Parts: sequence; structure tokens; C-alpha cells
Amino acid sequence: MRLDIVSIFPEYLDALNISLLGKAQEIGLLEIDIHDLRDHTFDQHKTVDDTPYGGGAGMVMKPEPWALALEEILDASPVEKPVLIVPTPSGEVFNQPAASELADAVHLVFACGRYEGIDERMFHWAHEHFDVRLMSLGDYVLNGGEVAALAMIEAIGRLVPGVVGNPESLVEESHSDDGLLEYPVYTKPSMWREYEVPEILLSGDHAKIAAWRKEQQAERTRTRRPDLWTKHQDMA
Ligand code: ADE
Repeated sequence: MRLDIVSIFPEYLDALNISLLGKAQEIGLLEIDIHDLRDHTFDQHKTVDDTPYGGGAGMVMKPEPWALALEEILDASPVEKPVLIVPTPSGEVFNQPAASELADAVHLVFACGRYEGIDERMFHWAHEHFDVRLMSLGDYVLNGGEVAALAMIEAIGRLVPGVVGNPESLVEESHSDDGLLEYPVYTKPSMWREYEVPEILLSGDHAKIAAWRKEQQAERTRTRRPDLWTKHQDMA
């Protein structure tokens, strides 16, 4: 999978070079390029923003540097119409089904905006060349799209075949197909301080362990995420 990320803080994205995603780049499963939006400005101050028409607080990102940065990426794209993800609190919710869907794409481009957002005309232009997806991590506001892009790329990247060594570890985790949260996990020693591992996990009875884990998942989901519990029950 090819990923291009445009930002005015390219160094924010350095974290993509460590751990699983760093390794995935080394072995050629992911090809990630970071682009500095300011490289597509022509004034001395490398200006990317200006005051909003109609007044109001904050600054708005100018459309031209975005179009120039994205045109350069388009020219090198392996596909006709790449997916352009714009992280924004006013987008559709990014969740596990969205991550799964996007993991099938050949080329993803992330446009990390800052300030009050990007001039709306950039989106009109972008729709002609990209499959544009405005996506939100959740109902809270970050200072810009970089942290959201990091989270989305990690969630998507780990679903690309080969990135996670043992694909079974993708099956029994929170937000996987059954819509339940993950069960609690324990490791050695069986007694740590005054806390014991639940006896059933030491029993060797795999059927009983599986049933216990399912109960724990149900209980956790019901108490921590009543919204998911309702959905799960509707699914059944
Ligand atoms: N940019 C600012 N806040 C955001 C959020 N909640 N999700 C995605 N991008 C954002």
C-alpha cells in the first residue's frame, strides 16, 4: 500500500518509522511519503493561511498550496483516483469497519489541516481527482489532523496482510466482527502481589475457558459500552 501525507508539521509523522509500521516499510509492505505543505508556497514566509471571508476567529488554509501538493502526489499515483482522507472533527466517524475498508486501497493520501480548516473550494477541486473522505476520530477537537492521521494509519496499516506477524491476533480483539470488547488477559506469575489469575484459566479446559472469555466480553461491553452492547444484541 502506498501512503502520502501532507502536513505543515512533517516531523509529527516521524512516529510512522518505528515499531510495526516502520518494519512494514522496511520490508516493502507499506510505502510512506511525508510532504511539507510549505514546499508549495512561493512567498518568503511560506504562507499557508489567511483570514476568513465573512469574519470570525482563527485562520483558514489557502487552497492553492494544497492543490499543488496534491497534484504532485496525483502525478505519481499508481491509481486513477486515489482515496484522499481529510481528518476533521466534522467528518464521518473513523471506526474498525472503516479501517478494514480502507486497508483494501492501493493508495491513500492524508491531508492534515490545521487552524479553522481548509478553504472549501479545495474540496470541490479535490472531488474531481480523488475519492474524498472526511473522517473524524471521535467527538473531540484536536489541534490538527496529524495525530488523527497517525491513529488512522496505524489502524489501517495493521490490517494490511503481513504487517502483523500473527494474523490470528487480529481476530480476537476489541471491535472485531462480533462487536464485543476484548476479554481480560493475564500472564505469569499466577499470583502477583495479592492478586490471583482466575482459576479457570489454569484449568486447561479449553471449552470452559472460551465460554468464560465470552462472558467477560459480554459483561465488559454491557457495562463500558452500552451503545455497542445494544448493537451486538440487535445483530444476534
Ligand atoms: N482534527 C481535529 N480534531 C479531529 C478529530 N476529532 N478527528 C479527526 N481529525 C481531527
